[in-house]
Amino acid sequence: MNISLPAKLSKCDLLILPLYASNTPPLLLKDHSRADFEGKTNETVLLYQKDKLTPRILLVGLGQEKKTTTEIWRQAGGTVANQLKKGLSKLAIIPPKESLRLILAFIEGFYLGHYKYEPFLNDPERQQTPLSELQIIIQDKTLKKELEIKLKELQIITKTVNSVRDQVNSPSNILNPTQFAKNSQKVTKKSRKINCKIFDEKSLQKINMNCLVSVGKGARDKAKLIILEYKSKPINKRPLVLVGKGICFDAGGINLKTRDLEYMKYDMTGAATVLGIFEILAELNLPLHIIGVLPCAENMLGENAFKPGDILTAYDKTTVEILNTDAEGRLILADALAYAVKNFKPEIIIDVATLTGAAITALGYDIAALIGNNQNLTTQLKQAATQVDEKIWELPLDPDYKKEIKSDIADIKNYSAEVGAGVIMGGAFLEHFVKDTPWAHLDMGGSAWTNKAKSYYPKGATGRMVRTLWQFLKNYKPTFD
Ligand code: BES
Ligand code: MN
Ligand code: ZN
Repeated sequence: MNISLPAKLSKCDLLILPLYASNTPPLLLKDHSRADFEGKTNETVLLYQKDKLTPRILLVGLGQEKKTTTEIWRQAGGTVANQLKKGLSKLAIIPPKESLRLILAFIEGFYLGHYKYEPFLNDPERQQTPLSELQIIIQDKTLKKELEIKLKELQIITKTVNSVRDQVNSPSNILNPTQFAKNSQKVTKKSRKINCKIFDEKSLQKINMNCLVSVGKGARDKAKLIILEYKSKPINKRPLVLVGKGICFDAGGINLKTRDLEYMKYDMTGAATVLGIFEILAELNLPLHIIGVLPCAENMLGENAFKPGDILTAYDKTTVEILNTDAEGRLILADALAYAVKNFKPEIIIDVATLTGAAITALGYDIAALIGNNQNLTTQLKQAATQVDEKIWELPLDPDYKKEIKSDIADIKNYSAEVGAGVIMGGAFLEHFVKDTPWAHLDMGGSAWTNKAKSYYPKGATGRMVRTLWQFLKNYKPTFD
């Protein structure tokens, strides 16, 4: 979509007018008064008028001006996207305040809200109309210059959030580990600064990634490990490592799940999120050295599947007793984290994973759980999340809970029935494999997916944490020595 920033409006299909509750009727409303539009947050009114320049006007409420926030503007943008009638492709907006942050938030909400997962919709009537142009009417010349730069970045980021959503919404018969690896290679080819290496089952066996290989055993399409590397005049001496859980389908394994199996295609959200960061890096530079580690597998059942009671030897030689094959995410992450620690000696590690259903019990569907072993790192992640209005909440890595991963007959076990605190126990298991490396873990079990469309989150994959991680990387200063 072509964005322009003129001072004067020219012809469009739809003029968008965000209004505060206190705003007086704008002059552009030729045949109408403001009527009964009150300007409450996300309230909309569509007006038609006999005017060639602006045949349609959509008013959208922003609530009280004194209480305004970036999130209110972002949601208003999402609301507009949801109200957009089919066939309209030339849009214009007159913001009621010429503020960089607020305008950017509105456009961001609009792009994110306009997303639809449609590769499998044959009927063109059910597909989104591609948007051809957007005029943002702006008077302030300095603001115009700032907006031009920031809008480029915003378009790349929102495009990527939507492509992460596409990956996550893809069914597992289409997106299996092999296909995920191919998609990663495609991203790599976009930039000479990114390299990609893929391990198949045989090469994973050779380097003793036994947990990852075992989880993938029950499926026809076996486990893969994808390593992505970006380096451009880095300010960090040792790499930042991002790890993402890539379970393309989680049946639970021999401990077969009994419900909600159709959602378990979204169990590769973590891997898709990390791949998304590299997708942005292919287009926008950061002075950093970043490595992505994406263990991918399908957790299936069958004669080759790993079994409850099995003892696996992880990459770092830790022996793990399997007490539930459905706690597979921590197993593939264990190998990935241990591999990263040994081979890259990272400055920090962040992993992203739909690790537990317990994340839903603890924090519901909007808030990701955060756990870590380094306060500096968790604080920086929380700050980044706040900057982009995504929600994360830290849970404690309690020392008494940590002890509970101990097994009677192996070093540790992958499931501890009596403890409760599912999110923390998942974190405690992972921490074992990062040793002393500053590390943080984002559990997106609840926040990766929504069954109810909410403003700029359409139904399905949310694409959360891409914006937080990108903001974190932009803020990054090497302070972890
Ligand atoms: N992928 C699931 C977690 C999940 C469940 C995410 C529902 C989103 C919605 C994970 O592999 C899993 O099955 N976790 C188990 C862990 C338990 C066996 C310790 C869970 O949460 O029940
Ligand atoms: Mn599982
Ligand atoms: Zn899982």
